[in-house]
Amino acid sequence: MTTDLRTAPTAATTADLSTLWAQRIGCARGLLPGSALTEQVRVLADLGGEEYLLRLKPGQDTVLDVVSALPRVAAALERRGDQVAVEPHPSGVNCLARLIVVDDSPLRRTTAHPGVAAFNPATGSVAIGLHTDGALAQWALWNDRGAVSGAIIAAHGSGGTNLVRGLLSAVAGYDPIVPWVIDVHQGVNLGDTTHLATRVGLNPAEGGQMLLDAHEIGRSRVANLTGTMPVAYQPTREAPLNLLLVDELDPLMDQRGAYGEQAAALEWLLRYGGKVGISVVVRATTAASNAFNRVGSRTAAFAGNAVVLAEVGRFAHNVVPGLVGDPALLPRTWSDGTSAAGLGYSTRRYAPLRSFLAGQS
Ligand SMILES: Nc1ncnc2c1ncn2[C@@H]1O[C@H](COP(=O)(O)OP(=O)(O)OP(=O)(O)O)[C@@H](O)[C@H]1O
Ligand SMILES: [Mg+2]
Repeated sequence: MTTDLRTAPTAATTADLSTLWAQRIGCARGLLPGSALTEQVRVLADLGGEEYLLRLKPGQDTVLDVVSALPRVAAALERRGDQVAVEPHPSGVNCLARLIVVDDSPLRRTTAHPGVAAFNPATGSVAIGLHTDGALAQWALWNDRGAVSGAIIAAHGSGGTNLVRGLLSAVAGYDPIVPWVIDVHQGVNLGDTTHLATRVGLNPAEGGQMLLDAHEIGRSRVANLTGTMPVAYQPTREAPLNLLLVDELDPLMDQRGAYGEQAAALEWLLRYGGKVGISVVVRATTAASNAFNRVGSRTAAFAGNAVVLAEVGRFAHNVVPGLVGDPALLPRTWSDGTSAAGLGYSTRRYAPLRSFLAGQS
């Protein structure tokens, strides 16, 4: 008889999770002594999954200890890493947590980008992918206070361009958003998708000029700013949101680290663009990129939206405020050898996400 070694034996997978937890994790010499999986709070029928209330020993462990123990927790439950996630409890009490266990993990699948249906013009948010429990991963283009910028940190090949393409195709044809795209490698990244943009920069010179022009638009709008906004911000055809998508940022910046004109324009856009209807989305291969050298740029870039798919160094975990999971611990390929591109963390949730796969046009 032969056994397929890629398939985990099923004996333990049917065992009651609360029992497994008690025997292997919550026991005296376990990973999280004194912890227990109590009530089942949600059934995720589509995913063959459940969500449990996890009680930790008060004063000993917090939800962040579960995050760092997660690979071992998954192993103790005889599940793969992509099948288990932990989230803080809505009460904010840190000795409580939500444990999510799914058999059919959305992270393993390739999910096609839903096109313009991904964008909700009422709220300004764009669905960019799925989390472990099947919930939509969100990116905010604006909120009540104004436009929102963000950063995508993605090592080459990890799906950075795909995410930029997904944002662009979600807002395609929506008049109150004016998308500009910078793809400095002659459009090789975004390809056909660039036709969805109002203006395209295909080399560092064109891209640099676009940063300067966006800065100029922003500064001219400052004159019309009123002190307090009477109503919640909402872009309109008359006062559109300028969305500047930059895939990739580094070739645009002065590599010697000098603080050039473009870097100054970028910093201004990241810091103040939100107040004048400008949202900048920058894709870089590492959170330690020169483009974020200025503290102002770094703080502003990561404050709105931050998604880290994978990175060259291991900096994101330390420099992106609110990033709880460590992207370096996520697989780059699955056990069957297929690519795990699009897998990463955002600052919105503790559970990892897998981006939608966006087509070329
Ligand atoms: N969420 C996803 N699901 C499935 N496949 C994906 C996903 N994201 C990206 N891919 C695939 O992974 C490959 C790399 O993606 P992409 O071109 O976006 O990477 P990149 O980070 O921009 O790489 P580079 O920096 O080299 O341009 C592509 O073949 C793409 O189709
Ligand atoms: Mg690319």
